Amino acid sequence: MIIIKLGGSLITDKSSYRAFREEETLRAIKEIASMNRSFVLVHGAGSFGHILCKKNNFPGPFKGKEFQVSRIKSDTTSLNSRIISMLLDMGMNPLPFSPFDLRRKGTFDYTPVLRSIESGFLPVLFGDIYIEGNEVKIYSGDSIMFDLCNLLNPEAAVFLGDVDGIYDRDPKKFPDSKLLRVVYNEQDFAKQENDVTGGMGGKYKAMKRISGLGIRTYMMNGLFPERIHGIESGDFHGSVIK
Ligand code: ADP
Ligand code: IPE
Repeated sequence: MIIIKLGGSLITDKSSYRAFREEETLRAIKEIASMNRSFVLVHGAGSFGHILCKKNNFPGPFKGKEFQVSRIKSDTTSLNSRIISMLLDMGMNPLPFSPFDLRRKGTFDYTPVLRSIESGFLPVLFGDIYIEGNEVKIYSGDSIMFDLCNLLNPEAAVFLGDVDGIYDRDPKKFPDSKLLRVVYNEQDFAKQENDVTGGMGGKYKAMKRISGLGIRTYMMNGLFPERIHGIESGDFHGSVIK
């Protein structure tokens, strides 16, 4: 089994509210399915989550902002529904799971996700908001990736984004930045505006914890999804996290 995260940077235009990148998402999903391996999918929220969370100062108290909470929840769910529809069109058996619904007594209970796998379904989890007391909290797809890797011990964890892998600094800002084939330690992860889950810095922390479990952990460019086949041969274009 492999566990794959479709990053919000791949499936949406993160700078534009609720801009779904349908073609890119479909190409990535088709390529993943063509590997003929069992897999679990996780995806981010992209511009269906970050923009309104930032605007409303979430994570944080929600009193007086209940409508905004409902709006964000509806947006993240609608992004997930689009991905579920694509998988249905491909004849697969997807089931959606949000941290919002899995939260139990201060932790996330993945029992329904594990049961769904045993019963032959393809779980699709996603970064989302959830409510605890008077506060809105956020659980990222990157954190879900760690939890699932810990529970399922997959052969590999693959993060697909909109850049080729991890560079010594942000490749979008510095065209001369260098792609690191093997990443041993933290790099210059420029803090992103409009990102409420820590951007590449937050992702790196999750990836490092996954690789600490002894699971092969990759960061690759989902805009060139055919590259994912390289993880089988070891001849891949992207970064591996040590
Ligand atoms: P996603 O939404 O796919 O989960 P993020 O938007 O959180 O991913 O992070 C990916 C972005 O991080 C890239 O688009 C890139 O511009 C930025 N970034 C910042 N620093 C780096 C770095 N050192 N190496 C690679 N990408 C970086
Ligand atoms: C973010 O999840 C969830 C919300 C903002 C509600 P992620 O952190 O996994 O999303 P991306 O991949 O960065 O877009």
